Parts: sequence; structure tokens; C-alpha cells
Amino acid sequence: MLKLTLFTIFSAIFCAETCYGLDIKKCKEEDIKCVTANSQALYDLTIKGDPNLEIEPADPIYHNSIDGNLSIIKYTLTNTSITGYKKCKLNYAQLSLAKSFLEFNLLCPEIQVHGLYEIDGRLIVLPVQGKGDFKLDARRYNITIHAEIKTVNGNDGKSYLAVKNFNINADIIDGIDFDLTNLFNGQKELAEPVLQFARENWKEVAKELQGPILNIAIKRLIKNLNKLLKTVPVDQMLISN
Ligand SMILES: *[C@@H]1O[C@H](CO)[C@@H](O)[C@H](O)[C@H]1NC(C)=O
Ligand SMILES: *[C@@H]1O[C@H](CO)[C@@H](O)[C@H](O)[C@H]1NC(C)=O
Ligand SMILES: *[C@@H]1O[C@H](CO)[C@@H](O)[C@H](O)[C@H]1NC(C)=O
Repeated sequence: MLKLTLFTIFSAIFCAETCYGLDIKKCKEEDIKCVTANSQALYDLTIKGDPNLEIEPADPIYHNSIDGNLSIIKYTLTNTSITGYKKCKLNYAQLSLAKSFLEFNLLCPEIQVHGLYEIDGRLIVLPVQGKGDFKLDARRYNITIHAEIKTVNGNDGKSYLAVKNFNINADIIDGIDFDLTNLFNGQKELAEPVLQFARENWKEVAKELQGPILNIAIKRLIKNLNKLLKTVPVDQMLISN
């Protein structure tokens, strides 16, 4: 209780109308433990959202149309919900202002995606085609985000961080369940081998198909994060070298 009160006073003094109860400490860039703890605090609020900052919650993430326009297979997902990002643990974060570089790693126990799908093309070796409901359930998603950051000057003359762009490296560790109804218009003798192939080769199949879905989700997280970063001046997060 005392700790909470002190923290509230501390936040009130040092964060003025910003920070929104974020437990942010000043870190040296090299202090990965400290930077990671700050990043976890930012991540949690990024997912939880904050109406005062016009940050929408990011679990679930709803998206009306995700296009997977890949070389040998095309898919469109509509009415899609992505859930599970609030359970991810931020394992580490590293940054360098001089190199405009931020990297962080998330380990997500379970990411689920469901909605309506339409697919046409070749799933690695097998032709696949269909349209219906789908549900994907990925267990232990290891997601690393490499981002380019910049500092921008706020109206208050202070400098703030922003993520300019990013790329994603991701692997599923424990497997994925594919549930696609109505493959090949419900022709089971055609659908079953494809589902079996996907089950047996889940790692490759996920690698092939995950990009557009991950991209939508991480884009959303970064959009939230950038809104949040506008409220925390760099000098409250980092001790300049
Ligand atoms: C998909 O990719 C093909 C060729 O790569 C392109 O011609 C087509 O316009 C793309 N479709 C969409 C919806 O982006
Ligand atoms: C869209 O998704 C919601 C919830 O996930 C579901 O209730 C609704 O029926 C879906 N709409 C269509 C057209 O399938
Ligand atoms: C997650 O991926 C990173 C980078 O590819 C790797 O260093 C790390 O060991 C992986 N974590 C797990 C739990 O597999």
C-alpha cells in the first residue's frame, strides 16, 4: 500500500500528465535487464489499450480482411480475430539510439486465429482449394521483432521514441492445429490428405502461410506502441551515455 502510494506520487511528479501509471525506470542502453523490464511494462499497456490515449486493446485483434498473396498460394481471411498476445512474455529487448535499432523477443504460449477463409493454390506440394470457417491454434510462438527507431521532438521540446518500420522472425515451437471446414467444397477424400499433410508438416506450413497474419498483428501492436511512446519522453526511459 505504502509502495503503491509512493509510486503514485513518484509518477505524478516525474510523469506529470504522461506515463499513465507505467512502471518505467531510467536505464542505461546496455542494461538489457532494465530495458527489458521497461519494454514489458510498455508491452502490457500496448495490449491492454487506453481510451485516454485512444489506444484500442490488442487482444483480440480484429481484422476484416487479410490477404495472403504468396507466390504459389493465395488466401484471404475475413472476419478474423487474433487472440493471445496478452499472454506473451517479453523475453528481452535491446536498443541503440545511435544505431536507430530496437529488437525484442516475445514468447507467446498460445496464439489463436479464427474467422472465414478462402484459399487457392499449392500448399508446398499439394493443391488446395476451399472456402469456409477456419481456426488456427499455435502453441508457443517465438516472435522476434527487429525495428528501426527514430527520435522525434514533441511540442514540449522533449524527445520521444517512435518505431519507423520493422521485420519479424517467428517460429512455432510446440505445434499448430489447423481447422479448415469445407476444403474442396466438402469433398472429404480431397480434404483429408491436405489436412493430414498440414498436421505432419506444420512447421513448414506455418512458415509458408504465417507472414501476412503476423504482419497484421505486429503492425497493430506497433501502432499502439507508437501512441504510447508519445507519452514517455526518452529522458525518462534512458540515461544518455
Ligand atoms: C497478387 O500477386 C499477383 C502477382 O504477384 C498480382 O498480379 C496481383 O495483383 C496480386 N493481388 C493482390 C490482391 O494483391
Ligand atoms: C464474424 O465473427 C463473429 C465472432 O467471431 C461471429 O459471431 C460472426 O458470426 C462472424 N460473421 C460471419 C459473417 O461469419
Ligand atoms: C526464440 O528465437 C530466438 C531467435 O531466433 C532464439 O534465440 C531463442 O532461443 C528462441 N527461444 C526459444 C524458447 O526457442
